Amino acid sequence: MKNGKLLRWMKRAGVLLTVAMLSACGEEYLQSTIDPVTDFGEVSHNLYVQVFWWTMIILAVVWALMAYILIRFREKPGQDRPKQIHGHMGLEIAWTIAPAIIVVAIVIPTIQGVFETQRPPDEDALVVEVTGKRYWWNFHFPEQGVTTANELHLPVGRPISLRLESGDVIHSFWVPQLGGKRDVNPVVAVPEGEEPKRNWMHFTIKEEGVFWGQCAEFCGEAHSLMGIRVVAESEEEFQAWLTDWHTPAPTANAPEPVGGQADTERPAGEPGAEAQTAVNQAVAEDPLVARGREVFFRETTCVLCHAIQGTAAPGIIGPNLTRMGSRSTIAAGMLENTPENLALWIKDPLSVKPGSEMPGAQYGAAIAGVQYPATNLNDEQIQALAAYLSSMR
Ligand code: CUA
Repeated sequence: MKNGKLLRWMKRAGVLLTVAMLSACGEEYLQSTIDPVTDFGEVSHNLYVQVFWWTMIILAVVWALMAYILIRFREKPGQDRPKQIHGHMGLEIAWTIAPAIIVVAIVIPTIQGVFETQRPPDEDALVVEVTGKRYWWNFHFPEQGVTTANELHLPVGRPISLRLESGDVIHSFWVPQLGGKRDVNPVVAVPEGEEPKRNWMHFTIKEEGVFWGQCAEFCGEAHSLMGIRVVAESEEEFQAWLTDWHTPAPTANAPEPVGGQADTERPAGEPGAEAQTAVNQAVAEDPLVARGREVFFRETTCVLCHAIQGTAAPGIIGPNLTRMGSRSTIAAGMLENTPENLALWIKDPLSVKPGSEMPGAQYGAAIAGVQYPATNLNDEQIQALAAYLSSMR
């Protein structure tokens, strides 16, 4: 290739590359590491920015010196060999001291940041016990008595403390916009009277939004499929979510038997008319939902592992399914929460998440050393189950 042609080709490639890089700036990044929304996230972000500018200053100085040397000491026609020097005390001292100062300038705020993000929890902080399991997240609010999975609702503007522990192997909790990753370790037995060592994470969220995260420590074959969704909302919305959690969803339980009153229509305005309307609505429930509830509680073993608040389902091994229909994703953020995807997950969980401990229709699973059989659910039962779970909003 001729030189001119090569130059033109390189210019074109450069333009294309620049356009491609700029177009990437317009995207919305769900797990951005440079857009913190908490005080905790800002500590490490500020460090990152400081180090960035130090490197830019060094880059500018090195380039300026190089440019000066290249021009000032370039070879001129007819020039003799220049005077050779070796070792310059002043220079040697300067380029030893300058980097040392830069390192100290980075180390001091780094150590401050480490202590700031490892402080003990605020006394009035909202505590959430986070348990990492293969391959999902359990979130428990001890004071509020709320347990949920994979989708964590949190209020903005209030100190929050996450207490992290693992139910099996080491995981790592990482929602980049909330802050840096933190290891989620199994709790090791300690002598009586001592507190087991657990990792904590403290932050106050500053803006509402949905923030995505990811297990950040290799924990097995579905490590990459262990997502987290944090829904940061106003205090009112958060309180409403807590209340919802404590109230069974309208379809969670079978409608109350109505004792022969259901068939008697009461004219509107008469005493009891409102209650009558409620009863009629309950009676007019989607038959598929009613069928799903029957399957869930009577025809299979869902309740051994799963709980639904306000119903007879008490399981604690698997994710809590309270108000399942109001979550936006299933399988720890892997699938959109639709009845079709729920049905797929119930029928064949390993196709979505290899290594999942959920038994499928055709295969069982070993959970904590206990072998659970295949559910043997047929498609009709699975469709009904999906409808029931989706209905609990
Ligand atoms: Cu859990 Cu990786």
